[in-house]
Amino acid sequence: MAGKIKILVSYIDRKYMLYCDSRKSAQPDALRAMNAILPLSIEGLSYRAGDSLLLRDVTAVLPKGRRTVILGPNGAGKSLLLRLCHGLLRPTAGGLTWNVVLGERDLRRRQAMVFQRPLPLRRSALANVEYPLALAGVGRAERRRRARLALDHFGLLDLAARPARLLSGGEQQRLALARAWVMAPELLFLDEPTSALDPAATHAVEKAVRDFHQAGTTIVMSTHDLAQARRIAEDVLFMFQGRMLEHDNAERFFAQPATPEARAFLAGELVW
Ligand SMILES: Nc1ncnc2c1ncn2[C@@H]1O[C@H](COP(=O)(O)OP(=O)(O)OP(=O)(O)O)[C@@H](O)[C@H]1O
Ligand SMILES: [Mg+2]
Repeated sequence: MAGKIKILVSYIDRKYMLYCDSRKSAQPDALRAMNAILPLSIEGLSYRAGDSLLLRDVTAVLPKGRRTVILGPNGAGKSLLLRLCHGLLRPTAGGLTWNVVLGERDLRRRQAMVFQRPLPLRRSALANVEYPLALAGVGRAERRRRARLALDHFGLLDLAARPARLLSGGEQQRLALARAWVMAPELLFLDEPTSALDPAATHAVEKAVRDFHQAGTTIVMSTHDLAQARRIAEDVLFMFQGRMLEHDNAERFFAQPATPEARAFLAGELVW
């Protein structure tokens, strides 16, 4: 009986989601594009800590709807670039121009970031996913409904009540993705999201990246896994010693990297 009720509730939830999606797509494309936060123009972005210039004059445009993979050896500045773009750090020179002018909070709400090592809040898996909705002012019942749908999407519904910090690394990473998913971000940053995961968990994260992208989310992700980069990237942004050396279509980058540094990196010869 309980099982049947669960199936019925999940069926109704899905129908409601489809209804909401159809309402969303009723908005004319031109209007949605006009209101989108992307493209993002990165202009002369630099970051200095003390005497060290860690990120040097990065200029690029991240278009809407693309999957961009950031590549480069350890210490190249990949994480710094992601954190600066997501607003977790302030540039010491240069800046970001979004497609629309919004306050910091509104901008942050329309994007999400997933880290190499997730650090869930000390509460249940469900409460972790509800949290960003609460910050966004979503009511309790709606919060619960949406959080359960997101957990279900990532195969975590059975673990909803478990303290999030007791979940395995792979489960915690899926939880981080569910937490992002529930906010339907326009832009998702991922900083080496699979480097601590086994192949099955890695596969789940890659599937999630595809799901986000299909749902209209722009992806910007760093990885050390070149096979993964080939699977995911439409564009590649190659970093080396705090500089962006290449920003190109992925097929072209992998077939004919323009710089000797990228050639060496792809050949496994460039350690840092
Ligand atoms: N707050 C900081 N203060 C001083 N140095 C920093 C700070 N943050 C990062 N760095 C340094 O800046 C450089 C770039 O760091 P970043 O974490 O962006 O590299 P990365 O490309 O992500 O490397 P990895 O592949 O190892 O993750 C590194 O040399 C790092 O030690
Ligand atoms: Mg890093």
